[in-house]
Amino acid sequence: MQPVVLITGGAGYVGSHACVALIESGYLPLVLDNFSNSSVESLRRVARITGVQPQLVEADVRDASALDSVFRSGPIHAVMHFAGLKAVGESTVQPLRYYAHNLAGTLALAKAMQRAGVRNLVFSSSATVYGEPGIEQLHEDLRCDPVNPYGRTKWMIEQMLADLAASEPGWRIARLRYFNPVGAHASGLIGEDPRGVPNNLMPYVSQVAVGRLDRLRVFGGDWPTPDGTGVRDYIHVMDLADGHVATLRHLLATPPQLLTLNLGTGRGTSVLEMIRAFERASGRAVPYDVVDRRPGDIAACWADATRAAHVLGWRTQRGIDDLCRDAWRWQQANPRGYGG
Ligand code: NAD
Ligand code: UFG
Repeated sequence: MQPVVLITGGAGYVGSHACVALIESGYLPLVLDNFSNSSVESLRRVARITGVQPQLVEADVRDASALDSVFRSGPIHAVMHFAGLKAVGESTVQPLRYYAHNLAGTLALAKAMQRAGVRNLVFSSSATVYGEPGIEQLHEDLRCDPVNPYGRTKWMIEQMLADLAASEPGWRIARLRYFNPVGAHASGLIGEDPRGVPNNLMPYVSQVAVGRLDRLRVFGGDWPTPDGTGVRDYIHVMDLADGHVATLRHLLATPPQLLTLNLGTGRGTSVLEMIRAFERASGRAVPYDVVDRRPGDIAACWADATRAAHVLGWRTQRGIDDLCRDAWRWQQANPRGYGG
């Protein structure tokens, strides 16, 4: 029988790509999502790609009785926990909503796992937990000091999971710190579908290229970086999805442990380099203006990706040209996302 993995937030951007990678690796995803930032169409597309329709429970991850009935419905081998809110700016305006969905959501999930005796958990954390460390290459052992409510929810969850793992034998927990997930499945059938005007660089660039938005604003041309624009570690979402499968395999094959891993490429790319790569991939111009820095941004950061390579034997396979090509394929085929 194929092992079942509960995927909270599995209809979302990263979760839907993880569903594809899991199915292709012999796991059966069972998705729990409240569709607050996604649509059921992403799961229909997962079925078109893989030939397997993930089972779906429409529920809030904070709903203890919904979680209990999911765990009672049959054996669940592990949980991948993607459900949560992720907009840094919004988290400063609605902090309690972020603590409720992210922190209380994970608490409800961990308690339900404890009741059900399921102790294998892969958690979506973020490089935002590092805050503004003053260095560019970020290693897992750096002191975490997040600078916004979203980041604090992730760091609090990481600590809660560490306390849980220390308190009770048998937990296998991975805290995965994503750098900047971008791109789409190579089929162009699933991808990132932000609601409203995108906050992040890649979906904004894609929407300019497809003509849905007029011009990109480049936030700052005077950063202490080679071309003056911000530098980040952009990881292809399918590399990220494969990293989740590698993590799960590793957790299930080794003794109980708490694992903390960066998932990134280990390389930085500037905003201008990204614009040029997208223009090459799409054959379209991406007009832009350099404007003031965005409050809260840092100049440059990228992952020290050596621990994941060492522990998992996993490395990213795709580069900037691949991720621009795949993001463009998705954007062109779905100019209005899953909505049409
Ligand atoms: P997303 O918004 O596309 O996916 C999140 C999914 O969770 C959505 O389908 C949403 O409907 C669902 N959801 C939200 N709150 C819920 C709740 N209370 N109960 C049930 N379902 C709920 O986001 P994503 O980009 O796929 O991110 C997935 C995870 O990865 C998040 O935890 C996010 O914080 C983390 N992460 C994302 C990024 C990024 O840039 N995409 C970077 C670092 C970490
Ligand atoms: N940028 C622009 N114009 C835009 C959007 C972004 O110039 O319209 C620039 C930013 O200033 C930054 C780079 O593009 O230099 C990347 O910005 P993103 O908003 O795409 O990503 P961030 O690195 O700011 O943040 C992302 C996620 C956070 C997560 C963080 C962790 O949005 O949730 O990565 O690494 F916490």
